[in-house]
Amino acid sequence: MHYSSFDYTASVCLNCDRTNSCFVGKNMVFKWRGKPLFVRHRSSEEVEDVRNVDMSSLRDPEQDTDRVVKEDWLVVIGVCTHLGCVPIANAGEFGGYYCPCHGSHYDVSGRIRKGPAPLNLEVRGLAYCTKSLMCIYCMFMPVPYF
Ligand code: FES
Repeated sequence: MHYSSFDYTASVCLNCDRTNSCFVGKNMVFKWRGKPLFVRHRSSEEVEDVRNVDMSSLRDPEQDTDRVVKEDWLVVIGVCTHLGCVPIANAGEFGGYYCPCHGSHYDVSGRIRKGPAPLNLEVRGLAYCTKSLMCIYCMFMPVPYF
């Protein structure tokens, strides 16, 4: 599935200080339909790393290019595909997300790389950031998650 053709029916734009809220490497969490929505600003090195992964090594093979619209922004549901815990960002063996419940490791594309989870984190939208505004698009309006 190519997410550039996804039907984005709602969006939210937040004022932000690019040097603070939107900096590269930061994972932000919003709430979407009662679930955590992870929005991650990826570095060019992170993008290069996940795009050089051998597809045959993946349990749920998906190209990174099929999981994002703008390469530096990943938007996924923050629910582990094993039994539904919320993974920790910037953790685990692949630098993406780690679910400590039973030890699932996801990469910076949200793809399962190690542990019991059977599937990648679910892709749910796109995001981009200007000098003072961060916009997130997904099927329904997300709200800040605290
Ligand atoms: S719920 Fe995440 S590893 Fe089991």
